[in-house]
Amino acid sequence: MTDRLYTVDLTQWNGPFTPAQQDGATAAMESGNVVYLPKLDFQFNPEEQKFLTPVWSNGAAKNISYDHRNGRIQGMEGDQTAQHELAALLKRYSESTLTLMQGLFPQYKAALLRMRTSYRPVEIKGRVSKVTKDDTRLHPDQFPARPVGGKRIIRIFCNVNPEGKGRDWRIGEPFADFAGKFVPRLKAPFPGSRDLMYMLRITRTPRTMYDHYMLQLHDQGKMDDRYQHSAPQIPFVFPPHCTWTCFTDEVLHAVDAGQYLLEQTYLLPVEAMKNPEKSPLRVLEKLMGKKLM
Ligand SMILES: [Fe+2]
Repeated sequence: MTDRLYTVDLTQWNGPFTPAQQDGATAAMESGNVVYLPKLDFQFNPEEQKFLTPVWSNGAAKNISYDHRNGRIQGMEGDQTAQHELAALLKRYSESTLTLMQGLFPQYKAALLRMRTSYRPVEIKGRVSKVTKDDTRLHPDQFPARPVGGKRIIRIFCNVNPEGKGRDWRIGEPFADFAGKFVPRLKAPFPGSRDLMYMLRITRTPRTMYDHYMLQLHDQGKMDDRYQHSAPQIPFVFPPHCTWTCFTDEVLHAVDAGQYLLEQTYLLPVEAMKNPEKSPLRVLEKLMGKKLM
């Protein structure tokens, strides 16, 4: 397992970061591995401990989400005061991850786009959802309603479970191996369908060909029972009070169990990578023999 994890022994979100850590972490990320920070924790203040229960989730959404661009919180049950307090916590987490990203990945610093922050206080195990939304199945991340237009998705997770429970992941095979199996099954979009979805506000922006095919890969992979059972996969439990990050559009992952997670999403233009040839965009273009952007 350890060859898919690159461990960095940081204890503070603001470093210090050595050049060896920066080079190693960047290389690990771009090779489709997970950067694992076993000693990096995110602290809840004493008055924030009350948020360590699932009752704050409104049940409709999977997660409580916070948008640092407008300060808005969604998916939360609770009065104005509680909403402000949880928003402040998520803002603090979001800013901590930004400090870490900029320090550990100086290569990406100028191009990183900070997106939403989420808090996931609900137990994953036993949650029922339709197959394509079932995150206990191996998948690369894609956003059906928010096309990324070829950009990379980076997520930083921190397991803040107060009861000593880990977050049970399985990590799948390299992206190129996965994509190679499914590319022959991918279908071109119906003419006009991507414009229509945009007009009907099903998507925030029109889906690019890249978004279309990546979403098909995500769905086809999740729907294939045989692939789910037979594909190479390695379990790893992220213990409480640790942090990890990876390109989740590339690293196939499944989550079997876990409760209380903080997560920050970033987008990164492919050109900002040290080695853009390793991006899913370039891998898919090579496999399909055509430009997707
Ligand atoms: Fe995911």
